[in-house]
Amino acid sequence: MENVIRKDDSLYTKNLIPGESVYNEKLIKIGDTEYRYWDPFRSKLSAALLKGLEDLPLKKKSKVLYLGAASGTTPSHVSDIVENGRVYCVEFSPRAIRKLVSISEKRKNMFPILEDANFPEKYAHLVENVDFIYQDIAQPNQTEILIKNSIFLKGYGAICIKARSIDVTSPPEKIFKKEKKKLEEHFEIIDFLRLEPYEKDHAFFFFKL
Ligand SMILES: C[S@@+](CC[C@H](N)C(=O)[O-])C[C@H]1O[C@@H](n2cnc3c(N)ncnc32)[C@H](O)[C@@H]1O
Repeated sequence: MENVIRKDDSLYTKNLIPGESVYNEKLIKIGDTEYRYWDPFRSKLSAALLKGLEDLPLKKKSKVLYLGAASGTTPSHVSDIVENGRVYCVEFSPRAIRKLVSISEKRKNMFPILEDANFPEKYAHLVENVDFIYQDIAQPNQTEILIKNSIFLKGYGAICIKARSIDVTSPPEKIFKKEKKKLEEHFEIIDFLRLEPYEKDHAFFFFKL
């Protein structure tokens, strides 16, 4: 993946806004280029890559729809990666989006959208077709939310599934199997992995349309 490096078993992204960290992460310099530490305990995408996820087709010009952007931790790394592209960040919590908005004032490729991802029609006028969808939303209907948003998708995507948000009583493996079946009706699954030890009872699916 462009703009991502691995050093001493850790990942770093090339800092789009040199000199600035987003969540107090460490900044390092290699030659003239500054990189931001990509914390796998704060970002499930970093965790998935460290767990062996195959390289994602994210390029410098990619357009990404990010569902569940929270206060911008992982979205900021995606913004580093797609430096000349766009990251449409959907988040429904007014409190979380406040920080996302301030990050986006500097990161011109990030577009915060305060909306419920259950209703893509409400932000269809703000979003274009994208090369990649990334979703990290802990809701009982998380797979259905992704499927609804695939109207914007031209290429690939990834979803983090939190088993306990779907059913606290069922074993995670059983839940992941059920969600996988639903995903397979709409997408071709390329990779599946668990995120332990970084996140408990989370699965990560990488797929294409
Ligand atoms: C686990 S956090 C995301 C963390 C973020 N992806 C990161 O790595 O920096 C999940 C976020 O999804 C948001 N969320 C949950 N349901 C949502 C919905 N229906 N529409 C939009 N955002 C939602 C929550 O408010 C929360 O901020």
